[in-house]
Amino acid sequence: MQRLKIRELLHWSSRSLVNSSSPDIDAWALLKFVLQVDDAWLIANEQTPIDPQHEARIRKLVDFRNSGVPVAYLTNSRQFWSKDLHVNSRVLVPRPETETLVEAVLNTARSFLSPTILELGTGSGAIAIALSTEIPHAEITATDLSRDALAIAKINLGRHNCANVKLMEADWFSGLEGRKFHLICSNPPYIARNDPHLEAPELQHEPESALVSGEDGLDAIRQIVSESSGYLHPGGWLVLEHAYDQAMQVQSIMNNARFVDVHSEKDLMDHDRVSLGRRPE
Ligand SMILES: C[S@@+](CC[C@H](N)C(=O)[O-])C[C@H]1O[C@@H](n2cnc3c(N)ncnc32)[C@H](O)[C@@H]1O
Repeated sequence: MQRLKIRELLHWSSRSLVNSSSPDIDAWALLKFVLQVDDAWLIANEQTPIDPQHEARIRKLVDFRNSGVPVAYLTNSRQFWSKDLHVNSRVLVPRPETETLVEAVLNTARSFLSPTILELGTGSGAIAIALSTEIPHAEITATDLSRDALAIAKINLGRHNCANVKLMEADWFSGLEGRKFHLICSNPPYIARNDPHLEAPELQHEPESALVSGEDGLDAIRQIVSESSGYLHPGGWLVLEHAYDQAMQVQSIMNNARFVDVHSEKDLMDHDRVSLGRRPE
């Protein structure tokens, strides 16, 4: 039987990925993963016939993808801040909009000589790793309630040699009593319990504890804001990611908690995605 060429299998995969919003990119990523090759190899070898075992594996992965499993979970890999991160279904797949949070933290960190940073809910460790790379002299504490997530974060910290990040199992601020930071940041769960977006096939595969936070989605943000002042140095910043339509509510929660200089920053889609406030001097 004549074997399919790589180019033909790519074409078939991308036409078959009917539930994907980016079928060409997904097909490319799945092929690279199964063949364990890089972009350059794939481009140079489009006419190469594909081994039937590899073809069968790709067809199976296309089926999984069509049932809603994110490509990142199928390939155990996701890029964030140009770093390759190990991910699985125990952690949220890091999103591009979270790079807006990293940028906001980096901008505020400039005013501190040797910043101490607390990241709450680190998941795969994406934010902490980006910050560690950009501010190697910072002292970073990254927490999560989920032990499974912390195990993934540990793998990623090791992979990227982030010696200045300490991981800690904690329910938000538990166990941090008495400590003070120049910056506290978080991309907490912020989807409302009954939000219809939760029905999206991809979200079905991500941990609910990373997505949902109470009736209006703001329980975690309310708790983090109300407790943060006690853990910030005077003049220290709280930086929070939230949904595209929550900026006004999050700013109001911060203002009510007596934060100053409260404002929001936009993501690449022009949505107010991150809100910041400073503890008064
Ligand atoms: C939206 S995910 C963010 C993950 C990662 N920081 C990122 O941006 O990709 C929220 C994270 O908060 C963690 N989390 C949920 N409730 C928590 C709690 N009470 N205390 C600490 N972490 C919590 C979840 O396990 C999850 O890893």
